[in-house]
Amino acid sequence: MKNLLENLIENNRKYVDYGKLASYIPELEKSNKNDLGIYVVTLDGKEYGAGEWEKKFTIQSISKVVSLMVAIMDNGRDKVFSRVGVEPTGDSFNSIVSLNRKPSMKPFNPMVNAGAIVTTSLISGDTEEEKFEKILNFTKKVTGNSSVGMNEEVYKSESQTGDRNRALAYFMKSNGTLNGNIDSILDLYFKQCSIEINARDLARFGAMLANDGVLPWSGERVISRDVCRIVKTIMVTCGMYDDSGKFAVHIGIPAKSGVGGGIMASVPRRMGIGVFGPALDEKGNSIGGSHILKDLSEELDLSIF
Ligand code: DON
Repeated sequence: MKNLLENLIENNRKYVDYGKLASYIPELEKSNKNDLGIYVVTLDGKEYGAGEWEKKFTIQSISKVVSLMVAIMDNGRDKVFSRVGVEPTGDSFNSIVSLNRKPSMKPFNPMVNAGAIVTTSLISGDTEEEKFEKILNFTKKVTGNSSVGMNEEVYKSESQTGDRNRALAYFMKSNGTLNGNIDSILDLYFKQCSIEINARDLARFGAMLANDGVLPWSGERVISRDVCRIVKTIMVTCGMYDDSGKFAVHIGIPAKSGVGGGIMASVPRRMGIGVFGPALDEKGNSIGGSHILKDLSEELDLSIF
């Protein structure tokens, strides 16, 4: 397996030339475009890494999976899905157009920015700090890494340049689909996106989902099997945004991407996979990471379909 992963990194490094670093969050442009790493955690307890799997990067949109789980634990699934849908948009992750589609106008799904801002707003706690602690602690739990923290520079950069997210949030406030203190909700969202992890953390997260909510390394259940099933389904239909259909056809693994370059993938009952490559395709997904997952899926017959 280790040789296979090393070959996949070698063979797919050429694709990073065709990708671009996320520049709309200026701090992310400081990443090394050539980085590419992968880590695999199998449910029978084996772990393998290749390339730059140890490098830290920000979790970005992969945090939307964490906040969705925390919001469901706090409110129950019916309340959460009365506020955010489960339908793919076919639009980009930060699109505003789908928010104006009647009849309900609620955001289409929890993986696009608008939907994630709503799920984050549903997390309970007396203060913003308490809510962030909950998100951070759950991230620590699902990654099995108690040293996970937030990247202060990326957080500041997001917060300073997050006008699109502000526009989404205030638009939703105006039509009644987002309630509460908008600045505080956005601040929490920017913080959750700025949590720093590496490919191993993502692979462990994916392994927990592959194991139906039980941490494979300790046997502890952290989320119900039912919530796991919901999360993986939404990852298939919406996790790679307007590339989700193509990703399902060619790779066939529940996955979630982030503009920091990470992809967390979960092969039910088999393994979790974390990939890292900050050069992104035009949809905002890691270009090298997607190619590696395609090859790995073919090589090990990982498609769930
Ligand atoms: O809100 C944003 O735009 C970023 N913090 C996260 C977007 C993202 O990761 C989209 N993923 N591919």
